[in-house]
Amino acid sequence: MSNSLKNEIAARLEFYRELGIEEFFIEPRPAAELSGTIPGERTISNEPVQPAVAADLATQSAAPAQRPPTAARSLNLFEAEKPRAKERETLEHVQSDLGECQRCKLAGGRKHIVFGQGNPRAELVFVGEGPGADEDEQGLPFVGRAGQLLNRMLQAVGIRREEVYICNVVKCRPPGNRTPERDEVEACSPFLFRQIESIQPKLVCCLGAPAVKTVLGLKEGILKLRGRFYDFGTAKALATVHPAYVLRNPREEKILREDFAKIRDFLRATATR
Ligand code: URA
Repeated sequence: MSNSLKNEIAARLEFYRELGIEEFFIEPRPAAELSGTIPGERTISNEPVQPAVAADLATQSAAPAQRPPTAARSLNLFEAEKPRAKERETLEHVQSDLGECQRCKLAGGRKHIVFGQGNPRAELVFVGEGPGADEDEQGLPFVGRAGQLLNRMLQAVGIRREEVYICNVVKCRPPGNRTPERDEVEACSPFLFRQIESIQPKLVCCLGAPAVKTVLGLKEGILKLRGRFYDFGTAKALATVHPAYVLRNPREEKILREDFAKIRDFLRATATR
C-alpha cells in the first residue's frame, strides 16, 4: 500500500472518529472498486432538506459541519449506507464529542455551551433557536423569560418539564440574540440530530422558524407551518411559534396554547398502557 493511500485512509478514519464512529470493518473488494469516492458517499446540496430526507440523514453518516451524522457506532467503509448494527449513542457521548467546541464563530462570544437539558428517554423533545443571555449565563436552555413561558405552557397541558428534553439549533449564544447564521447551524446541527437520535422521542416540537428549517428543512413562514404534524423518520415533528414571539405579541399566546394542546393529545393518543 502506498504512503499516500495510507495517509488518505488515516485521514478518513480520523474524519469518522470525529463523527463518533470508532469501529470499522472492511470487506475485501477488487482493487478497482477502491478508487475514487467511497460508495454511498453523498454530496451536499444547497437545496432545502425535505422532511423525510432530514430524518433519513439523521441516521446516516455525515460530514460534521453539514449533515446530521449517524448514531450507529460501526460503519463498513465500503458500504457507508449500511451500518452493521444500530446502537443508541448516549447523550454523554454526543456531549463529549462536542467538547469545548470551537467549530464556529459563536464559540468566541459564549460563557457556556448550552448542550440541552432533560430526560434522555423523553417522548417529547423541544428544539429552540439558540441560547439567550440567561441561558448563556447558566449553561441551561430556556431558563429566561421565554423559558418561563414554555414552563407555563407545559404546565397548562399537564406535562412536567423534567419529563421532556429541551435543546436548541445552536448551542452557543448568537451575539445580541440574532438568528443563527447558516455556517453556525451547519456546524452545530449534527450534534442536535445526534441528540434526537439518541433520545428517540415520539415527537419533536420545533419552536420557531429556525428550528423548523433546521429539523424539517421547511422554509415557509412559521405562521403557515405551525400547528401541523410532519413526518420525521419514525417520529413526528410539530411546528409552533417560538415563546419569544409570544412575549413580543402577547395576543398570540392562544397559538402556543392550541399547539401545546395538540402535543398533549398526540402523547395521549400514542401512549402505550
Ligand atoms: N430561546 C431559545 O431559542 N432557546 C433558549 O434556550 C432560550 C431562548
